[in-house]
Amino acid sequence: MPNRILVVDDEQNAREALTTILREEGYEVVEAADGEAGFEQLTQFNPDAVLCDIKMPKVDGLQLLHKARSEGFDNLFIMVTAFGSIETAVEAMRAGAFDYITKPVDVGAVLVKLEKALETRQLKRDNALLRERLHEKHRFNNIIGESGELQAVFDVVKRAAPTRATVLVLGESGTGKELIAQAIHEESPRRDKPFVKVNCAALSETLLESELFGHEKGSFTGAAAKREGRFELADGGTLFLDEIGDVTPLLQVKLLRVLQQKEFERVGGTQTLKVDVRVVTATNKDLAAEVKAGKFREDLYYRLNVVSVTLPPLRKRKSDVPALVAHFIEKYNDAHGKSVKGLAPGTLNALLSYDWPGNVRELSNVVERAVVLARENELTSDDLPATLRGPRPGARPGDSLIPGATLHEIEREAILRTLEMVDGSTSRAAEVLGISVRKIQYRLKEYAQQDAGAPIASDEGSEPN
Ligand SMILES: Nc1ncnc2c1ncn2[C@@H]1O[C@H](COP(=O)(O)OP(=O)(O)OP(=O)(O)O)[C@@H](O)[C@H]1O
Ligand SMILES: [Mg+2]
Repeated sequence: MPNRILVVDDEQNAREALTTILREEGYEVVEAADGEAGFEQLTQFNPDAVLCDIKMPKVDGLQLLHKARSEGFDNLFIMVTAFGSIETAVEAMRAGAFDYITKPVDVGAVLVKLEKALETRQLKRDNALLRERLHEKHRFNNIIGESGELQAVFDVVKRAAPTRATVLVLGESGTGKELIAQAIHEESPRRDKPFVKVNCAALSETLLESELFGHEKGSFTGAAAKREGRFELADGGTLFLDEIGDVTPLLQVKLLRVLQQKEFERVGGTQTLKVDVRVVTATNKDLAAEVKAGKFREDLYYRLNVVSVTLPPLRKRKSDVPALVAHFIEKYNDAHGKSVKGLAPGTLNALLSYDWPGNVRELSNVVERAVVLARENELTSDDLPATLRGPRPGARPGDSLIPGATLHEIEREAILRTLEMVDGSTSRAAEVLGISVRKIQYRLKEYAQQDAGAPIASDEGSEPN
């Protein structure tokens, strides 16, 4: 049976030319002139592969891809991008595209990529079962760590997991705290019961309270119906309270009570509810210091800290880098249908010379980007972001600027690179840089104006700290 291909492009000439060639090659081809019609064809024709232009009016190629994935279609997508828009291509790969080609379209390249895509897909199907089993077996070992530091962490986790003890997981952002919390649950007798996660920094006090404990109908503005809280949902299982250092004093008191008495009331309720929940918490704050500073209750701290696990920053355990890189190459090969085998000479050196302020999360992002961009079987330093390609081995990011640049330029570089590291989250970046979110936003507006040709503002008086 011939493979079926769907060609989606709003430019009629380009679309028809491609269709003709693909038919000559023996494929069965259907065309669509925009994303909407493309989606329709996806459901009707169920193609093996989709050749999809990104820039189209109304529903564009990325939107079509997102829609397809969110509705469970796993057809291969090869995206056609304008020359030079690498970032869009990366975005498409992250959204699940198999590969991309740049315009003007080189027909030979299209045919090669298409064949490779279809072949990979077959291989993937063949191996899927086998791999599933393998992964199951290595579940706990999916947390990679060969260094003595991580081995010590694993040791504590393995011993504490089967108990009911609360565990406090500490470490900088991106060191793997959530992964450890999950492992504690998986390695416990509660593994078949729910693992429920709450990010305590994401919600206001009122919302967090009702999120945790639930509420009765009409208990506060917006509480239209009765709702069960996370403590109830986690009954029998594990509740993971992330960013515990951000919980307000009022909620600290309420948490203390649940931990001590295993009971609570819903917001606006009178009935006392009993639950059996194992609590694991995490924070990137120095919680002991918060206690000393009077910001975090000492009694609650001791309740949470029955066992504590500290994940060292990646820069303190660089011996973990090679194994992590291998792990992420495999992971992103799988996710993006690539077949990168390893690192070209010199690449590991670049990875080891860098300090990884964003820790394992940053390493994961860097490897994903490199796998997506890789033209060869081996990742080269060309596939790494400029920050890592640094001029000298051992150089720290930003060194190339210092000295020789104005403070303003250095600050700009620091802000933009930090934002890149934290995936654009201004609150994270503010935390890393030790400045306010407002200041970052103010600066970004300023950079946008400068880039548009305006001079640097001279009145520094009104800017936020
Ligand atoms: N040892 C490890 N092995 C494999 N993957 C890891 C490891 N540590 C971290 N990761 C991966 O790195 C990413 C960040 O980890 P995680 O979300 O657990 O960090 P975190 O400490 O909770 O960060 P934050 O404080 O920002 O919430 C995740 O994708 C996670 O799977
Ligand atoms: Mg986390």
